[in-house]
Amino acid sequence: MVAAMLVLGIETSCDETAAAVVEDAAAPEKRIRASLVLSQLAEHRPYGGVVPEIAARAHLEHLDGLIAQALREAGAGFGDLAGVAATGGPGLIGGVMVGIMEAKAIAYARGLPFVAVNHLEGHALSVRLTDDVPFPYLLLLVSGGHCQLLAVEGVGTYRRLGTTIDDAVGECFDKGAKLLGLGYPGGPAIERAARTGNAARFPLPRPLIGRPGCDFSFSGLKTALAETVRRAGPLDERMRADLAASLQAAIVDCLLDRGAHAAAQFTARHGRGHALVAAGGVAANAVLRPRLAQLAAEWGLRFVVPPADLCTDNAAMIAWAGIERLRLGLTDPLDFAPRPRWPLDPAAALRRAS
Ligand code: KG4
Ligand code: ZN
Repeated sequence: MVAAMLVLGIETSCDETAAAVVEDAAAPEKRIRASLVLSQLAEHRPYGGVVPEIAARAHLEHLDGLIAQALREAGAGFGDLAGVAATGGPGLIGGVMVGIMEAKAIAYARGLPFVAVNHLEGHALSVRLTDDVPFPYLLLLVSGGHCQLLAVEGVGTYRRLGTTIDDAVGECFDKGAKLLGLGYPGGPAIERAARTGNAARFPLPRPLIGRPGCDFSFSGLKTALAETVRRAGPLDERMRADLAASLQAAIVDCLLDRGAHAAAQFTARHGRGHALVAAGGVAANAVLRPRLAQLAAEWGLRFVVPPADLCTDNAAMIAWAGIERLRLGLTDPLDFAPRPRWPLDPAAALRRAS
């Protein structure tokens, strides 16, 4: 019997200040002792996107209080912790520095192990916090900053099958919503407006569909939407709904086409019977989910999506990745330098750069 392990997680890489206390319990429903997310949406909304300087200052202002509150809710003190994990990148560097400095200070003062977690690894492993999903599995990571297909083969072992060559998919939703005057964040706004829209009214391009490989591209789609909006003149409600539905349909088609290629590659290497996992904010999309479930079924994969609050940015996933690493004896030195860029699969990143 291994002793229970309590880990503090800190997430500050974008526009959410988050702190969580997660336990290495046997039963998944007992693991999250506290998970707090303080959204900065209101502070960034006037600008239609995240302003790095505002984000870093807000993290600095709120993080101490949030950690204290998370510990209170968990009924724990610093003395009960087995380690401190914080997002070490990739992300907005000012914010990452705030979280990492705080984690190092706690670790140093309390003599605790420190783990710098790759934010993408946090998303990649989050499903194992709530579901029994063994390695390997296929992951579609779709968020405001990332759009990747990964074979998750073990803690620290990720094979990137595809990534975006320009914008992230969430960015495409956000910029599309801005063009349509639907507000920020764009994904939920597009999904809402699209419910009453006709997805066939505006034929938008599906970049890279039909081409080999698993990479994504969304900038051409965004430009095509901008052009369509310009030609359409002043938008009424009907037009907005139809444009939102057309954009959402094009995005989902792209994700599915690339996903099918990835499923083919993944099952050729690992066989059937594993899981297809979707994570990141865009995985909340109600049109995308059933299509992915269908894709998984076609390839003999089980479709799993973590609960919505674990799909979007949070600190429980960072604490959990910390637990997975601590179990393997993987810790980081206190001179760890925050990384604005930090690919999960460095070999794939080098192939792309060359
Ligand atoms: O994972 P996340 O919370 O933050 C990071 O970017 O790391 O993802 C946020 C992104 C935003 O671009 C948002 O517009 C998108 O996820 N999103 C959605 C939906 N909910 C959030 N996109 C499409 N449909 C949704 N229902
Ligand atoms: Zn994220």
